[in-house]
Amino acid sequence: MVQVSPSILSADFGSLKEEILKLEKGGADYIHLDVMDGIYVPNITFGSPVIKKLRNITDVPFDVHLMIDKPERYIKDFADAGADIITIHEEATIHLHRTIEEIKSYGLKAGVALNPATSLDSIEYVLDYIDMILIMTVNPGFGGQKFISSMKRKIKRMRDIIDNRGLDILIETDGGIKLDNAKEIIDYGVDIIVVGSGIFEAEDVSERTKIFKAL
Ligand code: DX5
Ligand code: ZN
Repeated sequence: MVQVSPSILSADFGSLKEEILKLEKGGADYIHLDVMDGIYVPNITFGSPVIKKLRNITDVPFDVHLMIDKPERYIKDFADAGADIITIHEEATIHLHRTIEEIKSYGLKAGVALNPATSLDSIEYVLDYIDMILIMTVNPGFGGQKFISSMKRKIKRMRDIIDNRGLDILIETDGGIKLDNAKEIIDYGVDIIVVGSGIFEAEDVSERTKIFKAL
């Protein structure tokens, strides 16, 4: 069964506590937290102090997606704030393997995100060290964008690599996943779907979370 990681990027930032409790009620497997710095991506959201406060609200694991330049500068801060998974962009860190090792040194799961134009080959030599690959299915920076259809091939290819080599890596997809395309994407072999606007556009956020989980 697919796991659902709702992104609070499309939530009401003035009522984050209530919004997160709705996701918890809907059975969210993770809470996806999109950290943006205005440099690596053209948008700014929130950082580790906010995540630390949100940690008091729920026990649902935090899936922290760092869209920041040189994330190696802040791994400890996000670990201390209560992240369970920390995902960094392959394109944003100078020494990818070193940063993965640092995330794991705090006992956390390490994810690597790839932008739509980045080849799977770029992470060939770190596959033995990561817990998750986050395949960006939109360009990072904003919620509510359209799924990039060539990412279907990328997901399938990653699924084949993992299965053929017997690797223990979860595939997460992020961006443009809605009720009308989620099932098809899941069937390519995705373990975790991130859904932002597809959940928060609903009148009943808990109910919509349940619907995605049941796909
Ligand atoms: C985009 C973020 C996503 C975003 C997804 O940079 O990484 O997590 O919130 O939003 P939707 O589901 O609206 O495309
Ligand atoms: Zn994200």
